[in-house]
Amino acid sequence: MKSAELKGLVLSGGRGTRLRPLTYTAAKQLVPVANRPILYYVLDNLSEAGIHDVGMIISPETGNAIQDAVEDGSRWGIKVQYILQNEPLGLAHAVKVARAFLGMSPFLMYLGDNLIGSGIRGFCDSFEKSNADATILLKEVSNPSSFGIAEVNGEGQVLRLVEKPREPRSNLALVGIYFFSSKIHEAIDRIRPSPRGELEITDAIQELLEQGRNVLSHQLDGWWLDTGKKDDLLTANSVVLDEWVKRQLVGEVDGESQVSGRVRLGKGSKVIRSTIRGPVVIGDNVQVEGSFIGPFTSIGNGCRILSSVMEHCVLLENARIENVDRLEDSLVGKGSSVIRNRGSHQAYRLMIGDDSEVLV
Ligand code: DAU
Repeated sequence: MKSAELKGLVLSGGRGTRLRPLTYTAAKQLVPVANRPILYYVLDNLSEAGIHDVGMIISPETGNAIQDAVEDGSRWGIKVQYILQNEPLGLAHAVKVARAFLGMSPFLMYLGDNLIGSGIRGFCDSFEKSNADATILLKEVSNPSSFGIAEVNGEGQVLRLVEKPREPRSNLALVGIYFFSSKIHEAIDRIRPSPRGELEITDAIQELLEQGRNVLSHQLDGWWLDTGKKDDLLTANSVVLDEWVKRQLVGEVDGESQVSGRVRLGKGSKVIRSTIRGPVVIGDNVQVEGSFIGPFTSIGNGCRILSSVMEHCVLLENARIENVDRLEDSLVGKGSSVIRNRGSHQAYRLMIGDDSEVLV
């Protein structure tokens, strides 16, 4: 089996400014989707593709949290080695920092905050069978200026790549999953930092093209979510709940409550005089009392929801919601509370960081 030779490089460093205030206190790769860190889905995919030897790029700020969450990778049947990148100087810089780990091996580079709706085994196999020095995955997007963009010909051969072009010549974005031969290291050595001050992997792949190397692409059929922003995260949450959640009630539901559809309720959790309509995921030790929880909601461990109505929300660990008539399309950080004492009946749309309090 040839895919065992392919190494994995997962990028879990960076600053994560776009999910602030959430990422002031946590790594964006650890923000949960359906109560599981995004990074866990990345590792599911690597493991399922038969990649066992994984280097994980971490930053000084969030590296400990990433290591605590992933440990040695044995939960996925993989071996993870942590590689510290002192500053987020770009995706190609991360590859440079990982050079000792990668040696001359071909490798799969996977951005730790990218979530896709399919596995990657097929892409691994086709890269290994090809003689390409790089294979990239592409997906049509409506806002091409926010991504690396590729121009391709009818055979999927890549003609030109530009990072976040002001005037995009295509709407095919580079998904954060790349396959490389060791030739990428020479290309990285030739490029210079971009206007945003980073060594861009997009520029390194363009450099491969200029050296006459073979760069292939595949278009991704399923969904791809770049979870960098609040609305993306809520969408990711809805999509994952919709596709992957199965009904499993471990906690207690009292006789006055109704739990319908695909709902997962963790251990030590209690549902009292409440209605829950799936798809919904509720973690461990959560209390739901006198409340309605509507579809596409994820509730982290230790949350308390009293006399409230919510739908299409993500609550991180230990959040508290009390007497809120209607909370929708909201993201509530760890240990934060939204508590209404009195006032008008309104719907709220919120993005609240960790350890905050909102009294309305
Ligand atoms: O998500 C796909 C896009 O990812 C591609 O279309 C772009 O071509 C590519 O440049 C990249 O763009 P972003 O601006 O979204 O990358 P971001 O800075 O968010 O970093 C992506 C991941 O890599 C994130 O998990 C943090 C990590 N990272 C980032 C940098 C800059 C590192 O580990 N080290 C770094 O130096």
